[in-house]
Amino acid sequence: MEEELARLREAALAEIAACGTEAELEAVRVRYLGRKGSLTEAVRGLGRVPPAERPALGALVNQAKEAVEAAVAVAGERLAAARLAESLAHDRIDVTLPGRRRPRGHAHPLRLVEDEIVDVFVGMGFQVAEGPEVEDDYHNFAALNFGADHPARDAQDTLFLADGPDLLLRTHTSPVQIRYMRATQPPLRVVVPGTVYRRDDLDPTHSPMFQQVEGFMVDERVSFADLKGVLVHFLRRLFGAETGVRFRPSFFPFTEPSAEVDIACVRCAAAGAADPACRVCRGRQWLEILGAGMIHPNVLRAVGYDPETVQGFAFGLGTDRIAILRYGIEDLRLFYENDLRFLAQFPS
Ligand code: DAH
Repeated sequence: MEEELARLREAALAEIAACGTEAELEAVRVRYLGRKGSLTEAVRGLGRVPPAERPALGALVNQAKEAVEAAVAVAGERLAAARLAESLAHDRIDVTLPGRRRPRGHAHPLRLVEDEIVDVFVGMGFQVAEGPEVEDDYHNFAALNFGADHPARDAQDTLFLADGPDLLLRTHTSPVQIRYMRATQPPLRVVVPGTVYRRDDLDPTHSPMFQQVEGFMVDERVSFADLKGVLVHFLRRLFGAETGVRFRPSFFPFTEPSAEVDIACVRCAAAGAADPACRVCRGRQWLEILGAGMIHPNVLRAVGYDPETVQGFAFGLGTDRIAILRYGIEDLRLFYENDLRFLAQFPS
């Protein structure tokens, strides 16, 4: 029995020392110290030993068990430390490395200016609406009081679509007035940003595709004074509180009376004096910014409103033109070429 114990003890210690993983160590521990382990069996075997030998042998068994338990504990710590060191070496990250920068997108300059414009009107309680770019003659022209022979319907201006009897690309955002008013009842205040199309060749100041913002307000007792108040406020928010604004009589089929609205040349104003050779206003000192007017009674009737009870004003402006003034850009084509070197210059 003594020899047997010594052999077990040596064998256990050797196996423990040879373990390379915590799982192997656990298997060895179970083999010697588990419920059916060899040393556990040896404790039970004490019952068959003559009583006189039991105390000495019992002490030996306990020593062997304690020695093996201690060896398991030491090996367990060694293997756990090795596992930690291994995973630290393996998963090392250098937190001082610079991060990888993801290229950030930029809002398009036309979108930035459109947002600025729309925000001023939203601040005055206007809703934002949109409408389709493919329109029909009724919404783009007829309901807006264009006569059957109005020159704007001419194929020179309008891009007609081949696949419909009267389908066209909208030439302005004004048809959204018709769509919106037909679907709603006054009072209403609406701004409509959107893309419009005309049969124009691309050059520094023309594009067959460009951007407009339409606006209109309808209620009882809306007057030309409301139109002036809203538009002067808008233009001064956009171009500065001191900006000169002037209204000139004009003509649009869908407004009566109609006006064109100019602002004092931004470049001459910044220079403090009118420059006869100014390349922005070409010496004229005023810049045409938008068209406006009181909504024509025929238009109100076309959408089912009674012009005796409600009145409205409307306006339309070219977003591209305002962006050109805002950013001092000389060539409209830059907005549509999508050259990232150009587009990345506009901070959002
Ligand atoms: N629709 C006009 C255009 O494209 C712009 C315009 C002028 C819109 C006067 C309006 C307005 O609503 O009242 O040239």
